Amino acid sequence: MDKRVLLIIGGGIAAYKSLDLIRLLAAKGVKTRTILTRAGAEFVTPLSVGSLSGQSVHQDLFALNEDGDMGHIELSRAADLVVVCPATADLLAKAAGGHANDLASTALLATDKPVLMAPAMNVRMWLHPATQRNVAQLRADGVTILEPDVGPMACGEFGPGRLPYPDQIADAILDCLGSPPRDQSLKGLRAIVTAGPTREPLDAVRFLSNHSSGKQGYAIAKALAERGANVSLVSGPTSLAPPPSMQVVQVETANEMLDAVLKGLPADVFISVAAVADWRPETRASGKLKIKNSGRSGLTLKLAENPDILHHISHLRNGRPQLVIGFAAETHHVEDYAAAKLARKGCDWIIANDVSGDVMGGAENEITLLRAGGVERWRRMTKEEVAEKLVDRISDAVTPPLGQDASHRSRTKAKRTSS
Ligand code: C5P
Repeated sequence: MDKRVLLIIGGGIAAYKSLDLIRLLAAKGVKTRTILTRAGAEFVTPLSVGSLSGQSVHQDLFALNEDGDMGHIELSRAADLVVVCPATADLLAKAAGGHANDLASTALLATDKPVLMAPAMNVRMWLHPATQRNVAQLRADGVTILEPDVGPMACGEFGPGRLPYPDQIADAILDCLGSPPRDQSLKGLRAIVTAGPTREPLDAVRFLSNHSSGKQGYAIAKALAERGANVSLVSGPTSLAPPPSMQVVQVETANEMLDAVLKGLPADVFISVAAVADWRPETRASGKLKIKNSGRSGLTLKLAENPDILHHISHLRNGRPQLVIGFAAETHHVEDYAAAKLARKGCDWIIANDVSGDVMGGAENEITLLRAGGVERWRRMTKEEVAEKLVDRISDAVTPPLGQDASHRSRTKAKRTSS
């Protein structure tokens, strides 16, 4: 890859990791020019940065430039990507506010190239509303900001704020620079994925819901889109950023989710990951229910049954997706209940998971895949790994002999797996 990066090294204990980053990028053929801030130079020396990058290190806005024509404007534009690593709270604030009082902030303001920042700082500084405001502003300005890792910090505290590993930052940089084309074997496949909880309103301010974070559904939607599928993600309320390269339909209630899924048809694959509320309050009070109206015996709620979206889509006479996949979150007898669910819901595959531990809202999942062809037990893995593996299975089930169109190929293979 013949690309150039301008790397701005901020002042933080994690600055030493930028040396590794330069090395990893060089191994991929990416050349790095560097700006070392005054605080950055307290943690790494210009000599070590210059030796690894093979270029002189830029430090001063007003220095007569040693590269002849490399002023701050040219410096920021000669690169394909500007990277700030580590991005300190101060650098984030300067960039969000448009300051230009040193070489780093001036280069960030003068650049016409994409910018990627890898923040690293104390957990309180990261979580401070001012920093979060700056991050939101920069993201709105189009800057890619990596999420810091969570873990023990050099200062002894614990939480989000650690710089991600250099190889993860290098991957994100290569993505931004346009890495070689990925596996696009699902190009043409139309997929609908539901994710997250639903919210069933009780009155103007209250609702019934559950702890689903949406992480697993979002990861599956993203993995499908990365392989070229045309994805519609129908999401209940979550705190997750919408994944790129897909249509995201935000809904609240189970009824809205069903409507959105039906509107999204036709599709080749439907994956029902959402934790849809089984019931909703039968009536929704227009204002806020008052405690004085509930009488001495408390409030008795009457619940109405919600539509079962998975069952509904599995039994469509016209336009049923060729492959319908459901999830079964169980706390005990996982496989027995999941097998019964496979039959009852009428879907082709069930992904069973034990949610008695920290699965809901957590980063990992332990899966059993049930289908007519048999049962597969997967080791515990991250939700992203589960997504990749599931998309592998989907790809095996629907990938055509070359030359068939998407609807035909899914019909052939999905039938085969469910017969
Ligand atoms: O019956 P249970 O809720 O455990 O079934 C889980 C599966 O059914 C999941 O795939 C979930 O998305 C789906 N489901 C649904 N509509 C409902 C309830 C569950 O689509 N009302």
